[in-house]
Amino acid sequence: MTSLRKNIAEMTAYVPGYQPEEPESWIKLNTNENPYPPSPAVVEAIREEIGRSGDSLRKYPDSASRSAREEAGLLYGFDPQWIIMANGSDEVLNNLIRAFAAEGEEIAYVHPSYSYYRTLAEIQGARVRTFGLTDKHELKDFPERYEGKLFFLTNPNAPLGFVFSQAVVEGLAERVQGMLVVDEAYVDFADEHSLELVRRHDNVVVTRTLSKSYSLAGMRLGLAIAHPGVIVALDKIRDHYNLDRLAQAAATAALGDQEYFRECVRKIRKTREWFSLELQFLGWEVIPSQGNYVFAVPPGGKAEWIYEFLYERKILVRYFSDPVLAHGLRITIGTMEEMEKTIAALKAVR
Ligand SMILES: Cc1ncc(COP(=O)(O)O)c(C=O)c1O
Repeated sequence: MTSLRKNIAEMTAYVPGYQPEEPESWIKLNTNENPYPPSPAVVEAIREEIGRSGDSLRKYPDSASRSAREEAGLLYGFDPQWIIMANGSDEVLNNLIRAFAAEGEEIAYVHPSYSYYRTLAEIQGARVRTFGLTDKHELKDFPERYEGKLFFLTNPNAPLGFVFSQAVVEGLAERVQGMLVVDEAYVDFADEHSLELVRRHDNVVVTRTLSKSYSLAGMRLGLAIAHPGVIVALDKIRDHYNLDRLAQAAATAALGDQEYFRECVRKIRKTREWFSLELQFLGWEVIPSQGNYVFAVPPGGKAEWIYEFLYERKILVRYFSDPVLAHGLRITIGTMEEMEKTIAALKAVR
């Protein structure tokens, strides 16, 4: 393999959250999946797309994912030429790096946030810089003019759950000379979003996913909203059939059933507030969260031990060995029943 690119040989692969073999036997709170099934309209649309004989699967899908883009456009108030659909938002994050950062050029992101940006940059051979956070969750040492090609801002922050205000995000749009990518994977659980900034700043891209708030992690569906010039560039790079027929049908149906979506989000937000309070009663320090998870610090500094304790009771949460996160656990918000069981288990911790 002497011809393997040096950066690929040297990089370490991204390790996604653990997916146990029999997920039904766990309370699975480790990868921010939605505990509720997708809208019945999604299941119906997939069935209809397959048809009785499966004949439609013989043919390639619409390479422009038009129906899904039109539905997203109606929902978010943008013309479809401002929207690109993706095979999971990971795909469009990857293509943003390929479009904007050549080998040796710099991209940056906030640490802690979504470390997959680093993996994608390493594949491309781009350089990576990170900006840390103060105790008040402000960016540390961010320059007046950031000259790198891309700056990824996960908002709400994952795994911590706090949000940067829209005033801060807009300030960053002005300071970033390249592209500001606002990764809004969790924004449907939050109070504010940055879509208006996309209209005002041609260097702002907002990415969204249907994995969390629409319960479709298994379908791999995401999208980006940006000025049409950016979308044209991203369109050149993506696989021309990046969304299969079933994914397109699912996306259109999911985005079209806002009543179901709103009810799921309402339940998760309510459970999040309940769970956060219960943890506080048990002496945990909880960062107020705008996502479908909370980052919380147990009393007595034994996060890893509690991870193991819950694991033994078939409750799976996320522990990060990264020194800036190792004092806490990230716990996805499941159903009320799952969270009650989790609290009951935590009450038994001595
Ligand atoms: C911050 C953030 N961005 C993007 C993604 C990727 O989402 P998708 O499933 O759409 O690829 C995730 C998934 O966990 C995430 O946490």
